[in-house]
Amino acid sequence: MTYSNEELKEKIIELKNRLSVTVVAHFYQRDEVFELADITGDSLELAKKTMDDDADFVLFCGVAFMGQSVKVLSPHKRVVMPKIACCAMARMIDSLYYDDSVKFLNDRGIASEDILPITYINSNADVKAKVGEMGGMVCTSSNAKKIITKALGEGKKILFVPDRCLGQNIANQMGLKSMVIGQEGDPKEADIICYDGFCSVHQLFTVEDIEFYRKKFPGILIATHPECDPAICDASDFVGSTSQLIKYITELPEDQKVAVGTEFNMVNRLRPKNTYVLSSTKPECPTMNETTLEDVYLTLKAIDDGAPINEIEVDEKTQKWAKIALERMLAL
Ligand code: 13P
Ligand code: SF4
Repeated sequence: MTYSNEELKEKIIELKNRLSVTVVAHFYQRDEVFELADITGDSLELAKKTMDDDADFVLFCGVAFMGQSVKVLSPHKRVVMPKIACCAMARMIDSLYYDDSVKFLNDRGIASEDILPITYINSNADVKAKVGEMGGMVCTSSNAKKIITKALGEGKKILFVPDRCLGQNIANQMGLKSMVIGQEGDPKEADIICYDGFCSVHQLFTVEDIEFYRKKFPGILIATHPECDPAICDASDFVGSTSQLIKYITELPEDQKVAVGTEFNMVNRLRPKNTYVLSSTKPECPTMNETTLEDVYLTLKAIDDGAPINEIEVDEKTQKWAKIALERMLAL
């Protein structure tokens, strides 16, 4: 039987009221899913807020690494996801590619004990565990600068995975030297060595898009996410995580025009007027968009039927080290 969105909403609300479930949604979720969530936020906020939640189930609307982070931080919680959708960037690295990156540095005369790895939270638990085991930690786009500042204090080379853009953008902001594995450069000369991963959604924004908007609307502001290419961030008026972008844009005077370089769903609900998507191609994250109202309903119904579906499991060793890497971040 198929239900309309209105019927699905009613059913979801009824199940939510009856069951011990907290519905969590990232800013990039579809509007109709986002509106039904009990907790919303950027990836750092979601990780923190769900730790303090005491419902039996967390129903996480986002991408797999986010649900996994909740399970890693709170292993006693039952975490289910309406769609176990994988962030394309997180899929670009696994524990074997991680080992290859360490070997790349070892082969160029940098010993493992002289490397401090940092993984962006957009990575799977196996990579976070590897990083934790090597003494490193996780960062998000909202705290990357703080985490890198702390890491530099240890006097080691930083191996930054998987997002080369975030790594390079922070290095540029801090006046540090960076290089990307597989591209030109000597790791011994660099402070931050980045893995060659990226977000295909944030690669859509171009310098030509910025020039187009500045010509069309003189005085327009450009606000972008640090997953965009360094050339885009360097040309922006503001660069920040999803939460930081929301704060910046919603606090602008009503008549101030702004073009935003991040995922479409979030930009679209930011501000009724004077807000533009910084691309002629709709920047939709395909995996974030996989979760529908029907998926949320079916996942809640499965809990109600006593047979939860899409439950997140993380093996004990991975959980232990990934948690250490996440907790080192939270401690800061
Ligand atoms: P935030 O940490 O800013 O929420 O970003 C997550 C993400 O996947 C951006 O593409
Ligand atoms: Fe991953 Fe990019 Fe989607 Fe964010 S927007 S979840 S980085 S694919």
